[in-house]
Amino acid sequence: MNTDSLFKPFSLKSLQLKNRIVMAPMTRSFSPNGIPTDQVAAYYRKRAEGEVGLILSEGTVIDRVSSSNDANIPHFYGETALNGWQKVIENVHQAGGQMGPQIWHMGIMDNHHSGWLPSQPFEGPSGLNRPGSGNGSTMTDSDIADTIAAFGKAAADAKRLGFDCLELHGAHNYLIDQFFWEATNQRTDIFGGKTLVERSRFAVEVIKEVRKQVGDDFAVIIRLSQWKPVDYNYKLAKTPKEMETWLNPLADAGVDIFHCSQRRFWEPEFEGSDLNFAGWAKKLTGKSTITVGSVGLTGEFLAAFGGESSEPSSLDELLRRMDRGDFDLVAVGRPLLADPEWVTKIRQNRTDELKGFTKEALTELILA
Ligand SMILES: Cc1cc2nc3c(=O)[nH]c(=O)nc-3n(C[C@H](O)[C@H](O)[C@H](O)COP(=O)(O)O)c2cc1C
Repeated sequence: MNTDSLFKPFSLKSLQLKNRIVMAPMTRSFSPNGIPTDQVAAYYRKRAEGEVGLILSEGTVIDRVSSSNDANIPHFYGETALNGWQKVIENVHQAGGQMGPQIWHMGIMDNHHSGWLPSQPFEGPSGLNRPGSGNGSTMTDSDIADTIAAFGKAAADAKRLGFDCLELHGAHNYLIDQFFWEATNQRTDIFGGKTLVERSRFAVEVIKEVRKQVGDDFAVIIRLSQWKPVDYNYKLAKTPKEMETWLNPLADAGVDIFHCSQRRFWEPEFEGSDLNFAGWAKKLTGKSTITVGSVGLTGEFLAAFGGESSEPSSLDELLRRMDRGDFDLVAVGRPLLADPEWVTKIRQNRTDELKGFTKEALTELILA
């Protein structure tokens, strides 16, 4: 297998990556009271030592009382949590890696199975997290303004701590995506509307504030998904034209890289072309894109949460699309969660040593 195209360097603003492989953001819930521990730093350091080009952190939440539904998900605010993150980025840099935090607000959530709840109700555009039902409050104008400011503060802190880029979590029906989706955004003010471009107003304002805080030269990524956790076949943008009207305002507001979340990277986005989401996003915006979803594994990640195991699979189709120029970077989730040396093994063609994925890998921070 010739994997040369995965090992070409990539440069964009603050990013100088040695290869095209990105560690996908993966929530681990190993940060008690929101504070990343030394073990979390060691976990990321191992991926940098294992030659990952760009590490994206697990989702880490902004300074809003109800931005999280789990006490063990890391905060990206407050001195103690930020000191923890400082250790993470120092470790990653010492090991020759580059990294950005995935900045997150969960929006309206179901209650966590642990029973932990934030001290105020979950907040979102219309109190809803799926068609016709919800579990929290509708954000007021001042909630929205304060949330945009909190995203900006987190971005400024990411740059101040020495991270190389940041990613906004705009996917998977969390807050930013709840504004995009008509089922969860029924507002009649300037943050709502009948069209996707109108409902993108919140994202645009967040991106503009983030860009203002980090300046022109710091790479800003946004993660987006067409699918929703309650409907894997859902598409926010139903045609290429609609996708263009969605993505270009986000690019104009300051996005450098679109991270296009799919469960299976090879699935075409629209009829009549085999381009995937990342392929279309690059074609329509001219921006760099990241693809993701079952790279190097037989099964997809949501089934993995249900206990399904996956075997290693061929990278041929990924490389075909990459060589065609469909996307610039490739995010890999579960293989890197299970094996910090996955990238090295791919580069050295040690395919018989690849591990696959079993549900046990979800229960610990694997260091070797
Ligand atoms: C344990 C776990 C936690 C995840 N947490 C996040 C997250 O915090 N933010 C996010 O955008 N995606 C999250 N995802 C999705 C991954 O980033 C990725 O898109 C998905 O696993 C598909 O990639 P894979 O098939 O290579 O695993 C998570 C996935 C897993 C397996």
